[in-house]
Amino acid sequence: MSASERKDDHVRLAASQQATTNAFDDVAFLHHALAGIDADAVTLESEILGLSWPVPFYINAMTGGSAHTGEINRALAIAARETGVPLASGSMSVGLDDPSALPTFRVLRDENPDGIVFANIGIERSADDARRAVAGLDADALQVHVNSLQETVMPEGSRSFGHWAESLERIIAAVDVPVIVKEVGFGLSSRTLSRLAAAGAAGADVSGRGGTDFIRIENARRSGGDYDYLTGWGQSAVACLLDAPADAPTLFASGGVRTPLDVVRALALGARAVGVSGSFLRIVLEGGAEALVPVLRQWIAHIRALQTALGVASVDRFVDTDLIITGETAEFCRARGIDITAIARRTDAAGAAERSRNVR
Ligand code: FNR
Repeated sequence: MSASERKDDHVRLAASQQATTNAFDDVAFLHHALAGIDADAVTLESEILGLSWPVPFYINAMTGGSAHTGEINRALAIAARETGVPLASGSMSVGLDDPSALPTFRVLRDENPDGIVFANIGIERSADDARRAVAGLDADALQVHVNSLQETVMPEGSRSFGHWAESLERIIAAVDVPVIVKEVGFGLSSRTLSRLAAAGAAGADVSGRGGTDFIRIENARRSGGDYDYLTGWGQSAVACLLDAPADAPTLFASGGVRTPLDVVRALALGARAVGVSGSFLRIVLEGGAEALVPVLRQWIAHIRALQTALGVASVDRFVDTDLIITGETAEFCRARGIDITAIARRTDAAGAAERSRNVR
């Protein structure tokens, strides 16, 4: 099977998956009835990795490399251009190995000349490939994906992961844009996040489990389907954000984001911006850019509405809200020694500081 046929398989199999319940359901905002502010006091804009983001979510890495996926990229790029939503390319390996496939990626920039666009490569690619990927899209940042479990279940996947940390350092040294390391749906642990920061990664997208599941996708591509038992491997984005160390790179989150509420939950857990793949892929496959544009506009409007009701003037202040963590995620926090009571009482701490100031 050719690499471009694999890209068509991924789109077809991913589109048939739908996240219903996942760890985002374990996160609830404590409702404060008098916390709201005026809508015109709210901004969705923020500065992240030196880039001006108009909104705190992005269309995350998916595809390119075949005629069909090139058309999907065109629709994604048009929707990004019409709404200002930043956009990441799928892995550019096919285009790096066969330059005739590069236009199926380049369309992301050609249709969206002024938007924020991320290039994307696997961590095993060379420094030269990293430079070519960034130049090929005039990219604002480079996503480097780590996907050892996907490779393990992929019939034609790699089995040599031992050199990845050194390879990442070479990639980071080679490009002059920020590097964001991302998982593909299995999460980044606390230890991994510290290692990525030490290697010089500017950002990390924890991309956790609970949405698109590449074990299921690759297992469906195996004749025996024999890795079925691995489904569910890894940590959710929610768990990863709760467990993130103080020295983590700038945090991005993805994996199972279904609604604007999931976006603000991730922002409240410390992500600076939130990536969405599967939920937007299904819309674009059904109705193209015409269907995706109104959905993106609705997400922007709803994020603003939630911000207003929660009293969060700027998106980087969602981290001041009180969150109730329950269910399997609370079990994870117990096992990892994470204090969920402190997260449920964040405004108490701020209120106590305020009250003690008044006493003085
Ligand atoms: C992906 N994803 C992905 N990630 C990456 O870094 N490079 C890639 O080439 C791809 N390819 C890809 C294809 C398709 C069809 C999908 C749906 C996804 C992974 C993606 O960026 C994200 O990390 C996961 O899909 C989890 O997010 P969702 O889908 O649950 O929102």
